[in-house]
Amino acid sequence: MVNLALSLFLTLPFILSVQGCPGEDHDHTHIEHKRAFPQAAVTPPTRALEWGDVNIIHTTDSHGWLLGHQKSSFPEPNYSGDLGDFASFVSHMKEIALRKDVDLLLVDSGDLHDGTGLSDGFPAGDVDAHESNKFLAQLPYDVMTIGNHELYVYANTLDMYKNFVPKLKGRYLSSNVNITVLDEHGNVVSVPVGRSEMAFSFIFRGEINDVTPWVARGKKVTALGVLFNFKGNDKNTTVQPVADMVKEKWFLDAIKEEPDFFLLTGHMPVVKNDWPLVFNAVRAVHPHAPILILGGHTHIRDCVQFDGRSMALESGRYMETVGWMSMKLDHKNSAENLTFSRRYLDPNRVTYEVSPLHAIPRIINLKLGTTEVPHNGEKPHLRYATREIDVQRSQSSCKVIRPRLRLRDPYPSNSSLLTLFASKAMPVALSINNTRANVPNVIIINSGIQRFDLYSGPFTRNDQLTASFYADAFFFIPDIPAGIANQVLPALNGARANEGRALMSELEKFENELYGRGYVDMIYMRWLDEMDKRGGVERRAAQNATLGYVTQDSCPGIGDDVVHAPLPFFTPPRFISSTPPNVSDDTPVDLVFVDFIEKRVLQILNTVQTTKNYTAVDVQTYSPVLSNAVMGLYAQQAWN
Ligand SMILES: *[C@@H]1O[C@H](CO)[C@@H](O)[C@H](O)[C@H]1NC(C)=O
Ligand SMILES: *[C@@H]1O[C@H](CO)[C@@H](O)[C@H](O)[C@H]1NC(C)=O
Ligand SMILES: *[C@@H]1O[C@H](CO)[C@@H](O)[C@H](O)[C@H]1NC(C)=O
Ligand SMILES: *[C@@H]1O[C@H](CO)[C@@H](O)[C@H](O)[C@H]1NC(C)=O
Ligand SMILES: *[C@@H]1O[C@H](CO)[C@@H](O)[C@H](O)[C@H]1NC(C)=O
Ligand SMILES: *[C@@H]1O[C@H](CO)[C@@H](O)[C@H](O)[C@H]1NC(C)=O
Ligand SMILES: *[C@@H]1O[C@H](CO)[C@@H](O)[C@H](O)[C@H]1NC(C)=O
Ligand SMILES: *[C@@H]1O[C@H](CO)[C@@H](O)[C@H](O)[C@H]1NC(C)=O
Ligand SMILES: *[C@@H]1O[C@H](CO)[C@@H](O)[C@H](O)[C@H]1NC(C)=O
Ligand SMILES: [Zn+2]
Ligand SMILES: [Zn+2]
Repeated sequence: MVNLALSLFLTLPFILSVQGCPGEDHDHTHIEHKRAFPQAAVTPPTRALEWGDVNIIHTTDSHGWLLGHQKSSFPEPNYSGDLGDFASFVSHMKEIALRKDVDLLLVDSGDLHDGTGLSDGFPAGDVDAHESNKFLAQLPYDVMTIGNHELYVYANTLDMYKNFVPKLKGRYLSSNVNITVLDEHGNVVSVPVGRSEMAFSFIFRGEINDVTPWVARGKKVTALGVLFNFKGNDKNTTVQPVADMVKEKWFLDAIKEEPDFFLLTGHMPVVKNDWPLVFNAVRAVHPHAPILILGGHTHIRDCVQFDGRSMALESGRYMETVGWMSMKLDHKNSAENLTFSRRYLDPNRVTYEVSPLHAIPRIINLKLGTTEVPHNGEKPHLRYATREIDVQRSQSSCKVIRPRLRLRDPYPSNSSLLTLFASKAMPVALSINNTRANVPNVIIINSGIQRFDLYSGPFTRNDQLTASFYADAFFFIPDIPAGIANQVLPALNGARANEGRALMSELEKFENELYGRGYVDMIYMRWLDEMDKRGGVERRAAQNATLGYVTQDSCPGIGDDVVHAPLPFFTPPRFISSTPPNVSDDTPVDLVFVDFIEKRVLQILNTVQTTKNYTAVDVQTYSPVLSNAVMGLYAQQAWN
């Protein structure tokens, strides 16, 4: 048996330097301490996990969050487990599975790129997530599938294809996603990013899986890895619509034989997407085969059962959730409902320690990170070391954020990240080296441009990249009368009642277009809003639950491992702007906006005035500064 000892030495060259903090020594200050065990009184999970014959630990949309959430504001400590802690947990759970003589699979549903300094803070010339993916490759993943964030930049996809996928030894699936490369004869070929032959279905037998030899002993599993109909992919990558994929001959061949269960992984939300296409295609051939679906992409916790012999789980985002699914198998050809369970774990050391303890308390006496577990001399136990890059301390701490700025706080308000971004950070950052700086302007963005909160304390490059990782360009149209420019924002947000249904359908069209290009924040925010509206005030007032996600999905029982009260949530407008200049209505101003909303802005501009028919020809580049650099440039000026 292969020893699972994972040495997750995070020995990255120091990649997170922040430019331009005067006097700051950017030398490589690795801080090699192990984060202390949480000191605060912690809420351990109170219920044991329900084990079945097949058990799955699921991650999705990790977006580079492998160092765990490191801020001390609640509920961040609940997500403080790092990849080393997670590796320990997986290892312990695999050991328990072995003792219980059941199968345990580790599955990931994609989006490894874009989101933190660890993944995105690479020096010029390097490739996003190339380093962080090396750590992930050390975990014993049984199946991984591709996400849309692997496809925005060809170099990233190529890096996956060349460097990451081979490490997964055939366990990386991209059933409907190809990359175009040159073959050994110099011919241009389109090939699956993941498994190249039989990319779409593979059968575990114990021996395939050299890292986890006890996995699926003898059981036959047919696995697929499907991406939603993503339209924002880079040239030389291909995403085949799911509806077409299920008609392909290889697909029908792959699902022809009935395995013990189907493992349908995919970067698609379990509700309102294309899963039914895949599910129904399989069901049409196998009316009773167990089907396990592991989805992702919309960053929420969710679960649904399409029928009594299947379950579909989605496990959140950013390593804020580790999903658990289990199924008790029955005999072949049974048509009875199967017994499933699902759970959303908060990834922290307490959860990681206590969940396995619940399973076999007397045998396992484990202590994460330190090892020394008595277990009958069978094998050496997990030993790992995480040499942590202390992102906070090894970065320029000359910039200090106060107060905490959150996306979910009321807009506008002093603690709203969007307020700061729109009314202060953008005007400052975009005026740097800009010949238009003296022309009054109105800057309009979509609120989804910001992705994560900023906590008080030192402002690091990691903070900058987690808060805003979209690299949108700023465009402008000159010489718009202020009176007209000021009407654009309210019109974008649908304030003009007379447009009524037409506008709503335009907004829906816009949202669908955004969705096709991979933007999911509106769905995630709606989820937060709903959980707050469902008695958030009362739950917080009761003061018997800690803050966190409160999930209501359509699977039986309570899914959250620890019962929480939701954070208050205030939905921001879809579009926000800088403070309008104090000028007369006829003063010409620059109407500035992000590239991403160009079409919509032009549409609206042509409804609020009819003097001129504005088109793409009138649009120019406003500044070379991209949206993901704005907070950093502002921090240098304002927080020094
Ligand atoms: C989760 O956060 C709460 C505060 O909201 C804290 O009291 C609790 O200890 C945290 N739980 C863990 C396991 O870190
Ligand atoms: C993907 O590559 C395979 C193998 O070259 C090819 O048969 C298939 O048609 C390609 N699919 C798409 C959607 O390009
Ligand atoms: C796609 O890749 C091939 C092979 O490298 C190359 O010849 C071709 O120019 C690329 N196409 C585009 C649109 O970049
Ligand atoms: C079987 O499961 C389905 C889907 O979850 C449910 O609608 C149905 O009521 C269940 N049947 C029984 C007998 O429990
Ligand atoms: C918000 O900030 C402004 C300016 O710094 C200050 O005058 C005001 O009192 C603050 N409001 C609140 C509610 O803190
Ligand atoms: C502005 O110009 C100066 C001098 O050319 C340059 O050093 C600096 O990097 C520029 N700043 C930005 C944000 O482009
Ligand atoms: C917290 O208190 C409320 C009101 O007393 C109660 O309904 C709820 O079940 C309690 N929740 C927990 C997690 O104990
Ligand atoms: C706007 O400008 C006018 C005229 O210059 C001035 O009287 C007024 O106080 C300004 N308003 C604000 C809010 O700055
Ligand atoms: C405005 O210009 C666009 C692009 O040239 C054209 O398609 C559209 O019909 C024009 N609209 C009006 C009202 O002239
Ligand atoms: Zn994602
Ligand atoms: Zn995604």
